[in-house]
Amino acid sequence: MDLGKSFFTKLQILRYRLMGIEQYVIDPEREYTNLVKNVDGVILKIGPTANTYINILDIRKESIEDERGYLATKISRLIGFFNLIFGYMNEEEKAILEDKIIKCYKDKNITFDDDSLYKDKNKKNFKTTHDMPRLEDLYNILGEEKKTKKMQIKLIPFVKGSLKYFNEYTNLELNNKLIVADIYELGEENIKYGMYLFTDLFWDKIKKNRNIKKAIYLDEIWQMIGITANKDVASFIYKIFKTIRKYGGSSIAITQDISDLFSLEDGAYGKSILNNSSNKIFFSLEEENISILSKYTNLSEKEKIEIRNLNRGECLIFAGDEHILTKIDCSDYEENIIK
Ligand SMILES: Nc1ncnc2c1ncn2[C@@H]1O[C@H](COP(=O)(O)OP(=O)(O)O)[C@@H](O)[C@H]1O
Ligand SMILES: [Mg+2]
Repeated sequence: MDLGKSFFTKLQILRYRLMGIEQYVIDPEREYTNLVKNVDGVILKIGPTANTYINILDIRKESIEDERGYLATKISRLIGFFNLIFGYMNEEEKAILEDKIIKCYKDKNITFDDDSLYKDKNKKNFKTTHDMPRLEDLYNILGEEKKTKKMQIKLIPFVKGSLKYFNEYTNLELNNKLIVADIYELGEENIKYGMYLFTDLFWDKIKKNRNIKKAIYLDEIWQMIGITANKDVASFIYKIFKTIRKYGGSSIAITQDISDLFSLEDGAYGKSILNNSSNKIFFSLEEENISILSKYTNLSEKEKIEIRNLNRGECLIFAGDEHILTKIDCSDYEENIIK
């Protein structure tokens, strides 16, 4: 249903752009293109006809979190990514996969010792994408044993097939204050991989400098933590929502389908994202979603009726304890830029 979520997001991006805030957008529907062109942002495209690549196996200097170490941080991210590809994995399968990932990095002389991420002893030069393994390296390792053969087969498209642009070294740079990831070309089936890839990349970029104000927008986020509904992906997203303020940032999740978001772990992840959001904006919802929502927020009976009857561009904003019925409006000048 087209109710104005992306329109409102574009308007915010435009206004933040004028304020000089650094912004990262994941755009699965190719609808931010005009806006980006009009304000001289950058569009990063991956897909079959693009010649820009990102290697999911890259470990970046700014990726480190909670003193866990580079490789450990990367492994937990990768488990999320491979969950999207392999589907549900039990603890044993995850452990086996982890073992193979460790081997994959070890072959490139990268270990749990953080010093191994540097090219030199005095730690001046961090390793680059060309020092990292690629999916093909993992693919080969997974083929060495019978018990991981199944995983290897699922990687075929990413190494040799229609998605083989995932098997390249990174060749793009992020040096604009507005960066939009256009993953439209991946198509419905594969869009989640692109979302995860860019979320991983942008999240590291966001952590680079705490003193710069920034925002990340994840449009149609249900594609990543909806249908596939897996814990490792959801907890990565949740972590962003929980910790981004610490890095001077804000995160905006945009979704049509609330039921998907609340399907996992009895709604625990959806709830955490809601609780960690200082503003919540509801456009018109249908009965089923209203009843889910009323379980997790303090919607009054009157508001339930209001939400059901909202028109395009109208919304109910929760800002702290205030609930405000709002119409999203902008000047013709702004509308020309964002449409
Ligand atoms: N507040 C608004 N004022 C004018 N046009 C709007 C407004 N909200 C949405 N639209 C238009 O309605 C259409 C659908 O809006 P969109 O934001 O893409 O929906 P959603 O993201 O919720 O699916 C778009 O063409 C958009 O330009
Ligand atoms: Mg939209």
